[in-house]
Amino acid sequence: MTTPVSVAFTETDLDAIASAEGRVAVCITPEGKLDQAGRRVNRLTKGTLARLIEAGTLEKKSAGDVLTLDWPAGMAAKALDIVVLPRNADIDASRRAGVALGRKIGDASLLLLGGSLKRPVEVVLGTVLRAYEFSVHKTAEAKTPGSITAMVAKPDEVRTEAEPALAVAEGVFFTRDLVSEPANHLTTTEFARRIAAMQDLGLKITILDEAEMEKLGMGALLSVSLGSATPGRLAVMEWQGGAKGDAPLALVGKGVVFDTGGISLKPAQGMEDMTMDMGGAGVVAGVMRTLARRGAKANVVGLVGLVENMPSDRATRPGDVVTSMKGDTIEVINTDAEGRMVLADVLWYAQETYKPRGIIDLATLTGAAIVALGHENAAALSTDDTLCDAVLKAAKSEGEGLWRLPLGKAYADMMKSQIADVKNSGGRPAGTITAAEFLHRFVRDDMPWVHLDIAGVASVKSDTTYAPKGASGWGVMTLNRLVADMCEE
Ligand code: BES
Ligand code: MN
Ligand code: ZN
Repeated sequence: MTTPVSVAFTETDLDAIASAEGRVAVCITPEGKLDQAGRRVNRLTKGTLARLIEAGTLEKKSAGDVLTLDWPAGMAAKALDIVVLPRNADIDASRRAGVALGRKIGDASLLLLGGSLKRPVEVVLGTVLRAYEFSVHKTAEAKTPGSITAMVAKPDEVRTEAEPALAVAEGVFFTRDLVSEPANHLTTTEFARRIAAMQDLGLKITILDEAEMEKLGMGALLSVSLGSATPGRLAVMEWQGGAKGDAPLALVGKGVVFDTGGISLKPAQGMEDMTMDMGGAGVVAGVMRTLARRGAKANVVGLVGLVENMPSDRATRPGDVVTSMKGDTIEVINTDAEGRMVLADVLWYAQETYKPRGIIDLATLTGAAIVALGHENAAALSTDDTLCDAVLKAAKSEGEGLWRLPLGKAYADMMKSQIADVKNSGGRPAGTITAAEFLHRFVRDDMPWVHLDIAGVASVKSDTTYAPKGASGWGVMTLNRLVADMCEE
């Protein structure tokens, strides 16, 4: 796994500032107030910070902005990062400040002078999340991650506080690595192997192979994996941190390691992006890792359907009719609408096997979600206002964009088939909603359920709030927060 920058918390030692090599980050309030460390930096640099304040430079800056001074005279550091942040900055501004530092850290060691900060952990989390780089396939440079030493008021307390935050970072990195990994490396079996390795964290792992899924009647999921040389798998991760017997929350993920479209082949242009079509499964695996790493006091089960969608002589054809585990027959109009076929069986299996208190599924399901919301927001569709509101609230407090779209019978009717119970494509109009209505069929009436279409946010071609361009890990923080809010009170 890509290793996050290492993090250490220490007492403030003003005498160590002058000789610190690498980068030094000093905090200054938007009104130009310096703390003790800030005054020391000001003195070392012969009044640079005071001149900056007098010149009115801060007036154009907002909380969380960072100004950089390279090779500051009077210090050994190669750069001085001046962090504009009120002492009681909220989570958002604190993380944004950290993100600005993370953008610059590279392989340097960063000394954060955070003695006066209310939320040093959030600053550090922002830095760690933004300093991600997927470099496993770059042979030239041997990448060494940077390091952060934060001087804080109460290092022991802050260290304890940082543990769950670092568990979040580890989960996000795990997800990003999975999403970034190309499909010749991340086959279905390799994905299952990486999940199985999480047994060491105390997760109970079960992997179903094709023969076992066949026995369960999972004709929908198996119709997708038919054409591929890498076999279908259903991986289950159980975390029992709550009371025995309490129904778990179920997280379900679409894990299409590569989506060619199958016989309904996608155009060549941009097809390489479909290596991220396992993004939903990646988020589920990442959240489960975070929950285990921080010892969440909740029962959560993660289930991911791992398949590859390939054209071949054995592949499913448009027009084929298959039978799902639920028993509903599905007419395959378009083999490129494969994610819903996978989710249909995993959703049903999740309910039959684990009797969850609620289900949240995540999937890079439709291009239409990108048309509707771009790369700023994922789409939420739900039959349960309470659960959906809780997910929206968690997303909001973690700064991950999420917007609700409606469901409705008229949309469900667009999925009626001439010859089977349902068809897998309703055409272009409202593509995100009709896809969700297809899934809705495989969710029991009384089951609280939220579907998250993350096609637009799982991997993005420009920087996002917490990530460089590429895999974002969108959803790990939201779902971790949801579990904390909903299951751990
Ligand atoms: N994996 C795609 C959706 C997708 C598109 C994700 C772009 C990320 C970026 C999905 O399997 C798909 O092909 N959906 C089709 C559905 C259609 C055939 C009904 C789509 O969106 O065009
Ligand atoms: Mn597809
Ligand atoms: Zn797909």
